[in-house]
Amino acid sequence: MKIACIGAGYVGGPTMAMVALKCPEIQVVVVDINEERIKAWNSDKLPIYEPGLFEVVKECRGRNLFFSTDTKKHVGEADIVFVSVNTPTKTHGIGAGKAADLTYWEGAARLIASVSTSSKIVVEKSTVPVKTAEAIGKVLKRNCQDPNVQFEILSNPEFLAEGTAMEDLRNPDRVLVGGADTESGRKAIETLVSVYAHWIPRERILTANLWSAELAKLTANAFLAQRISSINAISALCEATGADVSQVGHAIGTDSRIGPKFLNASVGFGGSCFQKDILNLCYVCESVGLKEVAEYWYQVVSMNDYQKQRFVERVISAMFNTVSQKKIAIYGFAFKKDTGDTRETPAIDVCKGLIRDGAKVCVYDPEVTPEQIFRDLSAPKFEWDRPNYSRSQSHMLENVQVVSDPAAAAEGSHAICILTEWDEFKTYDYQAMYDKMTKPAFIFDGRNILDHAQLREIGFIVYALGKPLDPFLVKGY
Ligand code: NAI
Repeated sequence: MKIACIGAGYVGGPTMAMVALKCPEIQVVVVDINEERIKAWNSDKLPIYEPGLFEVVKECRGRNLFFSTDTKKHVGEADIVFVSVNTPTKTHGIGAGKAADLTYWEGAARLIASVSTSSKIVVEKSTVPVKTAEAIGKVLKRNCQDPNVQFEILSNPEFLAEGTAMEDLRNPDRVLVGGADTESGRKAIETLVSVYAHWIPRERILTANLWSAELAKLTANAFLAQRISSINAISALCEATGADVSQVGHAIGTDSRIGPKFLNASVGFGGSCFQKDILNLCYVCESVGLKEVAEYWYQVVSMNDYQKQRFVERVISAMFNTVSQKKIAIYGFAFKKDTGDTRETPAIDVCKGLIRDGAKVCVYDPEVTPEQIFRDLSAPKFEWDRPNYSRSQSHMLENVQVVSDPAAAAEGSHAICILTEWDEFKTYDYQAMYDKMTKPAFIFDGRNILDHAQLREIGFIVYALGKPLDPFLVKGY
């Protein structure tokens, strides 16, 4: 059996590496139009950072795992074609700011149709709006010259989380395969299930109809993001009342109906998927006339924006209502720990918010490159609720410094903001940092990962999200 995967990104690379590892008799080729990315996949410095990924790639690469830019050849030869191209939010035209941009997906479908001389199973790995398979089916059918070639479309959404992708792929809670309820549809489902059955117990491989599978992925991300926005909403109330969000989270998490996971308050969710997929879900709802349902889910994104804004306002008001010309150390720029991914990271909005008020930010992140940080902070912000608003932000960069040493970021700064929950932040010598900072020295812990009592003993004024406020931080006016 030959598998090709179109799209060598955060999903295509790791998922195919795991398939190759677990199915040594299957040849897996990951193709991409981005030559630089493919070159990196074939080198010792992979294009994405994911714990455990390099080891798996190293074991399989050249054996039954290949990375190539020859999309035509490998897609043409494949029995199963996974499509894991990007499906970002549209930035212009109808549905701008909400709808999924399916340009890349359609491009991939046209490519498959044009090079196919044998029947294929086409697997939607990308997250797509419900009913995409129908549209893709039409594109495939109308663009393939050979009338004997049949395409069977399956939806196989990916549930991995960045940072734990390899473990999620090795031992997933479930794999979901959706297909048509026809004889050929059922046969295609069985073929894909047999690939996953190499290492995943059958009872964890769920099958469904196409639309359920497509919608399940959007729904899963909407529920996960909703949980974060819910606890973040409560974090604001905790600060106003003297309750402690960790205690509230722990108390509700012991209820088996609620469960303990995803109850940590933070500066906000990020990543390429949550916001995009909720907005896409809202757009689908609006398209079918379900305005109230759409409005319900929009609120999850609005709450996330509020949380980021609230954090910025907290920093500014704590520092005597002015951060003008003040150096502020930013610890962590990635949207979560153990990844170098910065797509939609809350750090972008927080840094921009502080710079807009005159601050000079000095960023340290163990994985994100300076080029990426500069790129993110100079790119115009695309407002999902005001899609026509976009202004160049290149002036931002005059107030951004990126360093490779956390102590250098702290030196001479007025404050440290923790924006990513990297483990190494917990073990720093904060006494040494404090000694070199301007006084009063602040720490704003946007992830609640530090030992706040110890920091207070050192002399820091500490803001911990959703925790009882330091008297110093209570607004007297
Ligand atoms: P990505 O942007 O890292 O990778 C997509 C790749 O597809 C890029 O390298 C791009 O060059 C390539 N591509 C686009 N059009 C192409 C074409 N016509 N031919 C060949 N290559 C082409 O995106 P990522 O993060 O891997 O996401 C892919 C999909 O998976 C998205 O729909 C996303 O929503 C979904 N997803 C992402 C997860 C994540 O954690 N990043 C988790 C679960 C799903």
